Amino acid sequence: MPKTTDINSAETLSDIERQITNCKKCPLYKTKTKDVPGAGDEEAEIFFIGEAPGKAEDLSGEPFVGAAGKLLTEMIETIGLTRSDVFIANVLKHRPPENRDPLPDEVEACWPYLSRQIEIVGPKLIIFLGRHALNRFFPLAKISEVHGRAFKKKWNGKEQVFLALYHPAAALYNGSMKETLMKDFKKIPKLIEKIIENNNLKQEKLI
Ligand code: URA
Repeated sequence: MPKTTDINSAETLSDIERQITNCKKCPLYKTKTKDVPGAGDEEAEIFFIGEAPGKAEDLSGEPFVGAAGKLLTEMIETIGLTRSDVFIANVLKHRPPENRDPLPDEVEACWPYLSRQIEIVGPKLIIFLGRHALNRFFPLAKISEVHGRAFKKKWNGKEQVFLALYHPAAALYNGSMKETLMKDFKKIPKLIEKIIENNNLKQEKLI
């Protein structure tokens, strides 16, 4: 059964997908092949947020299915989960041409879709993959400083735990970054346990 939200009890992930299909709020709809709304368990405990679809994602309609996606999928499996146990989405739902960085207007236009997806899924942990996702929520944070450290903050009316990781695409060609990413990734199961135990993760305090 689709989960509903308190704020808009009728809205489902499929409704949001339909809105994304019809979206003309920024010019990226003109160059897209497929929409890449996000995929996974609609009741997932973990919600990963990447940057934007690349070529493989634009062709398939699935997030993180190219080289970076392969690494992400492998890392998810190292912690005993599969892609279908988590939810994976991006800040942008349509591919920027030539994989350029998302523009501020595009991020702004696309934001309500991601925000409502998070509300519907209601994850225990939101994981940023790279700086674009991190800075959408925390504009001043630096990924090189906060990666691998969880923090809790009031967001959308509830206490939410966040974890920032290096982006798998950046780690693909940088051995030491990949090592760091894999080390940070391994912290996820313990963190979920702590969240479930309602451990005293302090508000806004990095751990
Ligand atoms: N990089 C991203 O940020 N998202 C994808 O879906 C694929 C690559």
